[in-house]
Amino acid sequence: MKSILITGANGQLGRALNTVLKEQLDSDTIILNTSRGEPTAYCPILLDITNPVAVTNIVQDLKPDIIINCAAHTAVDLCETDKERAYEINALGPKNLAAAANAIDAKLIHVSTDYVFDGERKTPYTEEDQANPQTVYGQTKLEGERLVQNHCEKYFIIRTAWLYGEGKNFVKTMLQLAENHTEVRVIRDQFGTPTSALELAKAIVFLMNTENYGIYHGTCEGIATWYEFATEVFRLAKKEITVKPITTEEYPTPAKRPKYSVLENKKLKALNYYMKPWKDALQEYINMELLHNTLSF
Ligand SMILES: NC(=O)c1ccc[n+]([C@@H]2O[C@H](COP(=O)([O-])OP(=O)(O)OC[C@H]3O[C@@H](n4cnc5c(N)ncnc54)[C@H](OP(=O)(O)O)[C@@H]3O)[C@@H](O)[C@H]2O)c1
Repeated sequence: MKSILITGANGQLGRALNTVLKEQLDSDTIILNTSRGEPTAYCPILLDITNPVAVTNIVQDLKPDIIINCAAHTAVDLCETDKERAYEINALGPKNLAAAANAIDAKLIHVSTDYVFDGERKTPYTEEDQANPQTVYGQTKLEGERLVQNHCEKYFIIRTAWLYGEGKNFVKTMLQLAENHTEVRVIRDQFGTPTSALELAKAIVFLMNTENYGIYHGTCEGIATWYEFATEVFRLAKKEITVKPITTEEYPTPAKRPKYSVLENKKLKALNYYMKPWKDALQEYINMELLHNTLSF
């Protein structure tokens, strides 16, 4: 029997991984979902990744073949003031998992972010480009990457961006706004790539079945601004709403957003793995959500 332990299983990526794994797994493999919240039938194991003793005990007990870390402090603005907690969750948590995985010779898949880059470039960042995070979130995520590299041999670090899935995200926020507004203002001068959690989960499942350890970029294909992203969401969901483009200066946030954080999936492509164009993945997501009626508020 083979087992895959997922941390932060209640988050967007954790849920998407469950969907993909359930479609692809053979009957000899089990998923061990863990979260820091109350245990549920879906997620029966309590695990706070910042607790090194708990991480060691659970990993030693269950001896998973693969650990996928989907847990993170993802509230980018809150991280600016919640620095200690951000460091514990985004840096020390991955370190605990890396050490525990290494002790039983398990593979660790850890997820990181486009925010490790400063966003000053005008061309896509590859895995070899120099990181230079500008926010507490980005700094703690980069430290998490380094600690994983230092404490685990069989690691995959996958940097993603602009993620949406089952949970709180930009797509749902836009559609929620469309319910009671005739106009939304959306930033037109930050560039990135909207990425479906399902597409990222598929890439993770592809990688975890290889021995090609290292750092990867994993985003959908193409480039968009938040304005273009919002416009496409409304078009696909057939919502009548005016989208007004604004500048970053017109929408100040506690954490500085990278101006340009398009990632090139250079290493995935070298393995002949291609993620979908962002508009195709978004269409699939919206169709699926409309089917399950979860986009109405
Ligand atoms: N969302 C994005 O746009 C984005 C962009 C780039 C990279 N990423 C990265 O992608 C990964 C997945 O993101 P996501 O959007 O799926 O995140 P998410 O929906 O915010 O889920 C994160 C999960 O981590 C859990 N968690 C937080 N602290 C924990 C702890 N100490 N121990 C155990 N679990 C803990 C949270 O639990 P609670 O439910 O209890 O809070 C939550 O379920 C993260 O590594 C993130 O940094 C995300």
